[in-house]
Amino acid sequence: MTDKTRSANPTSANRGFNRRKFIAAAAGTAVAPLAARAAGAAVEPPAGQDPSLPVDVTLRVNGANKPLNIDSRTTVLDALREHIGLTGAKKGCDHGQCGACTVMIDGRRVVSCLTLALAAQGQEIVTIEGLSKGSQLHPMQQAFIDNDAFQCGYCTSGQIMSAVACVKEGHAGNDDDIREYMSGNLCRCAAYPNIVAAIKQAAPAISGQQKG
Ligand code: FES
Ligand code: FES
Repeated sequence: MTDKTRSANPTSANRGFNRRKFIAAAAGTAVAPLAARAAGAAVEPPAGQDPSLPVDVTLRVNGANKPLNIDSRTTVLDALREHIGLTGAKKGCDHGQCGACTVMIDGRRVVSCLTLALAAQGQEIVTIEGLSKGSQLHPMQQAFIDNDAFQCGYCTSGQIMSAVACVKEGHAGNDDDIREYMSGNLCRCAAYPNIVAAIKQAAPAISGQQKG
């Protein structure tokens, strides 16, 4: 993993470290692409409100509004998985280090375990469940199947979301670029060569969609 994709790792020494402060620190110290991925500025609950009380939040997920009443510290990942029932984004590390939780927010790839749901209000969240058009798989999903780009599949939804963004960012021009800009997504099964092949296969179709 390079400096570009390394993020802060809370240790036992700072276990009491406030998540909001951690997010602000991570966003301030990391550089692209991971800085773009830990979206979510520090967000405080409304003035005078007990932060331990649930707050009303409406998330826009895959084109639909999802009204929630949740703890103000809830991450996008937990909101998706525990409150909305979309379990495609996976919780691997919960510390911004593995990429298994990657979703798109307003077109940018984001590690949803480090993004507060409150901060994502008013933004378009796209998860792996929203990538296909009905029964028609997204070109990147099809390419992952065609290239056997997974084994256990745990990292796969994050890999695919990140791969789509990688292409759209213009970072899929060669193998080295793909490896570099996908290095924030870990695969414990080491399907990396197949993932690179899948991205190369899907890139022309995705680039064509952007131009079209
Ligand atoms: Fe979010 Fe690992 S679960 S980066
Ligand atoms: Fe198993 Fe990537 S396919 S972790």
